Amino acid sequence: MEFPIENVTVFSHPLIQHKISILRDKRTGTNEFRALIEEIAMLMGYEALRDLPLKEVEVETPIETCMTPMIAGKKLAVVPILRAGLGMVNGILALVPSAKVGHIGLYRDEVTHEPHEYYCKLPNPIEQRTIVVTDPMLATGGSAVAAVDFIKEHGGKNIKFMAIIAAPEGLERLHKAHPDIQIYVGHLDRQLNENAYICPGLGDAGDRIFGTK
Ligand code: PRP
Ligand code: URA
Repeated sequence: MEFPIENVTVFSHPLIQHKISILRDKRTGTNEFRALIEEIAMLMGYEALRDLPLKEVEVETPIETCMTPMIAGKKLAVVPILRAGLGMVNGILALVPSAKVGHIGLYRDEVTHEPHEYYCKLPNPIEQRTIVVTDPMLATGGSAVAAVDFIKEHGGKNIKFMAIIAAPEGLERLHKAHPDIQIYVGHLDRQLNENAYICPGLGDAGDRIFGTK
């Protein structure tokens, strides 16, 4: 892939890179893994939300009354792709506590690697909201494309997708399928292996967040 690519941000911030390196280490336990996923989501969210609309409100300081900017309305929705995307939600909610939260339940078939949907619920109405879809891993891109398809079918327009680690294959597939959405990636890894796992990656994000397997 040739960078820069319109609507694609790959982070280079040292704090994000440092924390991703700890995530990759197979000795990192569930507690620390969970906390890091949340922290990275917050750091990425700080950048991804830089275009949130503001409105001027009147505030009385101890000195005088002034007009000062605040986030306009309760217009943000965070939509994790279950399970692993859940781990990123609190990082975004720490920045915008009033955001609504939707859920998209998808799991990858172990053989075909195609996503299967098992649960979807979005805040209603969704049309006017900025929607941040979270999933730590963008591998083949099948789950991300299916999630964004679903959100668009339900009227979502202003969509941002946040992944902590992406494979070039997945990033390309998502960007090709949905060139209009903003994609944020913490680190772009080398490639997928024969089981469609990201190399070097961090293993199975869902299992590492929830301590399963
Ligand atoms: C993982 C990950 C993504 C998906 C990425 O979820 O959290 O949702 O795989 O792969 P893709 O880009 O090839 O679709 P998984 O299906 O393992 O479910 P889980 O989060 O419940 O463990
Ligand atoms: N899902 C994961 O959790 N990890 C990968 O490397 C690929 C898909």
